[in-house]
Amino acid sequence: MSKNILVTGGAGYIGSHTVLQLLLGGYKVIKMVGIVGISLIIDKLLLVQRGNTLIIKQSYWVVRFDAVIHFAGLKAVGESVEKPLLYYDNNVIGTITLLEVMAAHGCKNLVFSSSATVYGWPKEVPCTEESPLSAVNPYGRTKLFIEEICRDVHHSDPEWKIILLRYFNPVGAHPSGHIGEDPRGIPNNLMPFVQQVAVGRRPALTVFGNDYATKDGTGVRDYIHVVDLADGHIAALRKLSDPKIELAFNPTSYAIIGCEVYNLGTGKGTSVLEMVAAFERASGKKIPLVMAGRRAGDAEIVYASTKKAECELDWRARYGIEEMCRDQWNWASKNPYGYGSPESNGVMK
Ligand code: WQD
Repeated sequence: MSKNILVTGGAGYIGSHTVLQLLLGGYKVIKMVGIVGISLIIDKLLLVQRGNTLIIKQSYWVVRFDAVIHFAGLKAVGESVEKPLLYYDNNVIGTITLLEVMAAHGCKNLVFSSSATVYGWPKEVPCTEESPLSAVNPYGRTKLFIEEICRDVHHSDPEWKIILLRYFNPVGAHPSGHIGEDPRGIPNNLMPFVQQVAVGRRPALTVFGNDYATKDGTGVRDYIHVVDLADGHIAALRKLSDPKIELAFNPTSYAIIGCEVYNLGTGKGTSVLEMVAAFERASGKKIPLVMAGRRAGDAEIVYASTKKAECELDWRARYGIEEMCRDQWNWASKNPYGYGSPESNGVMK
């Protein structure tokens, strides 16, 4: 019997790719679209997002959810520094509300969208799941706080089975070219910005720093194909329904069985200039560059150890940066204004 999965933030970049993979994998998906002002009725469960606070008014769930994948949340680092309370309200309070409603309806299986941002500026790479954690901005702190909340919830009630997935740098798009990344406003992240330069929406890419102790002086990250990331969630759901997971909680050792964290990356570091070159090869477009100083808060080198996910989730990334750039260009060239239009992006004809 296929499982019923509630996906919060299912209309977002990673959420939409995960919903697609879930449907292809035979899951029944109920998608909660966390768009401000949208009230959504899911089988008598009224989910209302007012302002940035997710208010879940529960009546009763007609559909019994087997698990929840929780993507919904704000994720712009710079915005989180300017508006911390907005991020704590939306990301942390929203998650607490969700956990309360899940418990009230007897659904205690959760996959949570965490982030490599919890590693801050790692002193050692690759980052393992045991690497020191140090969020360096309010957005990263919301992820850290939510991870701790999940550990405490499991500690209080071992019936909870929770998997925390720490994403490294998601890029690319579904090979169909029908869905992809479409950030609002000026893209914070590297690849959506490169994508917009390639389609002519922006004149050049500003490279933030070329004096790092890296192969070419530019920042190094672990870029992962968004479809690999989506498949990592399927692997996590399989793990949650794995009968071998012991629920026994051994109080003498806080070694949590039933609340686990996994890195989702490729285990490879790629520099800014290497990513730009790969995208130029994939698109046939020249990406003009403006070299600038370092961006405040940026780490030098961040990439994942993926051993734990390979071993315990039987998951590994399949795609390299060439496929990431190929699929990102396929989406961008077919959808130069994302899901919008030139007019909706302020381009007058
Ligand atoms: C990557 C590299 C920049 C833009 C982000 C989020 C974080 C997490 C992972 C969700 C860096 C350089 C970037 C540009 C540039 N996401 N760059 N010019 O900072 O590793 O982390 O993704 O959880 O929350 O912050 O990714 O894409 O912003 O930067 O030179 O216009 O590209 O300096 O070296 P980052 P990024």
